[in-house]
Amino acid sequence: MHSPINGLTFCIHTFGCQMNKHDSERIAGMLEALGALMVETVEESDIVVFMTCCVREAADTRLYGQVASMKNIPLRAESPLSKRVIAVGGCIGQRDGEKLTEALPHLDVVFGTHNLGSLPRLLEAAIEGQGKQVEVLAASSEFPTELPTSREHSWAAWLPITIGCNNFCSYCIVPYVRGREKSRSIEDIVAEAERYVASGVKEITLLGQNVNSYGRDLYGKPRFADILDAVDQTGIERLRFATSHPKDLTDEVIEKFGSLRSLMPALHLPVQSGSNAILAAMNRRYSRDHYLRLISKIRDVQPDIALSTDIIVGFPGETAKDFEDTYRLVEEVGYHQVFTFIYSKREGTPAAQIEDPTPREVIQERFDRLVDLVQKRAFELNQPDVGSVVPILVEGSSKRDERMIAGKSPKNQTVHALAPQGVTPSELAGTFVNVKIDDAKTWYLSGHVLGANERL
Ligand code: 5AD
Ligand code: SF4
Repeated sequence: MHSPINGLTFCIHTFGCQMNKHDSERIAGMLEALGALMVETVEESDIVVFMTCCVREAADTRLYGQVASMKNIPLRAESPLSKRVIAVGGCIGQRDGEKLTEALPHLDVVFGTHNLGSLPRLLEAAIEGQGKQVEVLAASSEFPTELPTSREHSWAAWLPITIGCNNFCSYCIVPYVRGREKSRSIEDIVAEAERYVASGVKEITLLGQNVNSYGRDLYGKPRFADILDAVDQTGIERLRFATSHPKDLTDEVIEKFGSLRSLMPALHLPVQSGSNAILAAMNRRYSRDHYLRLISKIRDVQPDIALSTDIIVGFPGETAKDFEDTYRLVEEVGYHQVFTFIYSKREGTPAAQIEDPTPREVIQERFDRLVDLVQKRAFELNQPDVGSVVPILVEGSSKRDERMIAGKSPKNQTVHALAPQGVTPSELAGTFVNVKIDDAKTWYLSGHVLGANERL
């Protein structure tokens, strides 16, 4: 059947987490399957899709401004449409629904987190003059597994294993906009991983709001550790996962860092705070000690692992002492990377009810101190890699110098090295190259290439 989308151009603006980025790849896949062409800029696009995030206020307010500014950008001269079609989906679409079209009258389509697959139909209806299309579902009836994808890199794939979240951390809007946790069947996961391996994918990242609770809704079996085994057995070269909740990280999963060939020595384990009082107020359901015990178990199994985390500074009621607990924890654990956030009040979450007398400047000061520490520790932790040889998966050229290749080490560090004579970095993209590390900075390592297309 001929779709009115056929022959149109589109671009997608994506905000927020990896799940959103992955959802955007699915949208690109669906629109390309109908004959549309992905382009880079709004100027060239007949359709603009915004995949939105409302986890913090900044992205939230920015979205309204960005959509509003679309009005001023003229449609390309060759477009078969009389007006550019604008769609908003993802978490803000889910939360605000109809309200979005009231605030933004030139918006044509609103969809939510549970009905990605409906977007082509909604766009078609809007293009055919059937008026504004707003479709937001309260929950998805099943896992949206069979949607096509168009991936950013041919050699790396995100593979969702759960969607939604049941944890209700008191500051977090995600459970309200992504719904209850649902696990995908192991058969589906393995089939998708096998397809990726057969098509030359080198790295798979398993995705979920909390991958560690995989399987709870499937009568408790299989568990996340079984998924890791099964995906490893597909022959994938590199396996990663995100995100883990410390309360659900099991010994079985920790042991996989010592036994699974493909599982890379890098773990993102959000701690959020180092203070027991704040962890309780956040409804995180673990203590500082429990978290530190997990870290020591992980390092027993894999001493050379790169840890990363998320931290919220300025949760309501955070005292100077609470912050010191966080500061000391960051000092003690030693993270290769820390994503630091200033608490952002989200209406509808329990924490939004908590009064906070702490002045904004005090929170900013804590935040700045923490960022300094994070950088200092990241720099220190990269130094022992100088002199070692690491296999990097090349992503392309470095932003600073086109002759330099940029790629990722097993520990997920960015590595730069001069491309060997006669090859360009883009020709090496998606291959493994061995790099001897000569220098280590805060956010990257640099070195020289030893040999291409081989693994150590
Ligand atoms: N304010 C600040 N940071 C938040 N995060 C989630 N909700 C909020 C909020 N209301 C952070 C958490 C989470 C990361 C994805 O975003 O640290 O792990
Ligand atoms: Fe939000 Fe907590 Fe769920 Fe993560 S685990 S998505 S922080 S509620």
